[in-house]
Amino acid sequence: PFDGYAYMREHHPIYEDEQGVWHVFCYEDVKEVLSNYAIFSSKRSGDIEAYDPISASLISQDPPRHRLLRSLVSQAFTPKAIAALQSRIQEITKELFHHLHESASPDFVKQFSYPLPVIVIAELLGVPSSDQERFKEWSDAIVTGSHALENGEEITYDNAQQEMIEYFSQIISSRKKSPKDDLISRLLEAQIDGEALSHMDILGFCILLLVAGNETTTNLLSNAIYTFHNYPDVWHQLKANPELMDQAVEETLRYRSPVQNMSRLTISETVLSGRILPPGKFVVAWIGSANRDDRVFPQANEFILTRTNLRHVAFGHGIHFCLGAPLARLEASIALRYMLDVDFQFVVDEKRSELINSNFVYGFSRMPLEQCT
Ligand code: HEM
Repeated sequence: PFDGYAYMREHHPIYEDEQGVWHVFCYEDVKEVLSNYAIFSSKRSGDIEAYDPISASLISQDPPRHRLLRSLVSQAFTPKAIAALQSRIQEITKELFHHLHESASPDFVKQFSYPLPVIVIAELLGVPSSDQERFKEWSDAIVTGSHALENGEEITYDNAQQEMIEYFSQIISSRKKSPKDDLISRLLEAQIDGEALSHMDILGFCILLLVAGNETTTNLLSNAIYTFHNYPDVWHQLKANPELMDQAVEETLRYRSPVQNMSRLTISETVLSGRILPPGKFVVAWIGSANRDDRVFPQANEFILTRTNLRHVAFGHGIHFCLGAPLARLEASIALRYMLDVDFQFVVDEKRSELINSNFVYGFSRMPLEQCT
């Protein structure tokens, strides 16, 4: 998509398409759309009362409701809770890597970058990670609108949401009766001024986390490996200086952003870089384009390990800044550092690798490795 973004930044930095949806491509405008919640609302379904858990969840709310939900969930999703996962992430990394390494037909996505975040998020939520096939089907359907099953049937957004509601409702009621040491039990306990999360709030948060935990960190990991395949010098440089890995993760987030866009709905008329946007319009903020804006990132189309001033917007900007960013960073850093430590040598089979068919998330649906030692 990156050539297309460059064209749009130059010729149509703010563009209204035939459906009346506005698209925003430059860095400063994208930041403004993502963060100015008084004009650009996250309640994409407007003022209609939210019926489904995703529309009820914090990613689809504005202040003051957003503030309340966010502080309740962050009580359960603390940096301490994330840091406690470190040794478990190391263990899972080791185990998955062993399987990838031993496999006769290694596929980085299938055997590593997909299962790692799913197992972590499932354990954090306290749901069996053996259900990961279903999690994948559901979250693919949520992100892309539908998902084809092996038996030829199709699972739609609505079916997926319905099945997730049933699945999590059962777990929530069982935790109500007998709490465990997991996120769902902590969410049930969270309170502010006597106000607790409703059943719908908890459902929304569980579904949001499962989808966010499934569709993003996977792409960060495979985008990093693909980038290191394209830039073997960077991989060598990292071997000599493993402490630069966190920087490499940040540059990957900029260079190949796992989430390419986020949308908003205008509440009132506004002026953005000289263009008048009417109220009630969908606005798509192209994160993937903002992160390639060379007025902010010189030589933006190059992966530069030692880049300074890396103010990317891959995790968003403002009040909705990704709640899972510390977790995503931790997983990526542990997994990629481990690969350096064991001196992983790999060549991606570019011809058989496939990008996910979506303009929302950017990553690979398969990434076979020709060499894996
Ligand atoms: C919000 C990206 C991983 C949970 C966001 C937003 C972005 C984003 C761009 C802002 C949404 C907006 O402005 O409308 C990413 C990327 C990830 C990642 C690139 C991985 C590389 C995760 C993980 C979790 C997570 C692992 C949870 C386990 C959330 C939540 C929000 C959010 C709950 C909503 C925050 C709010 O509305 O206040 N993420 N995310 N994300 N993300 Fe992530």
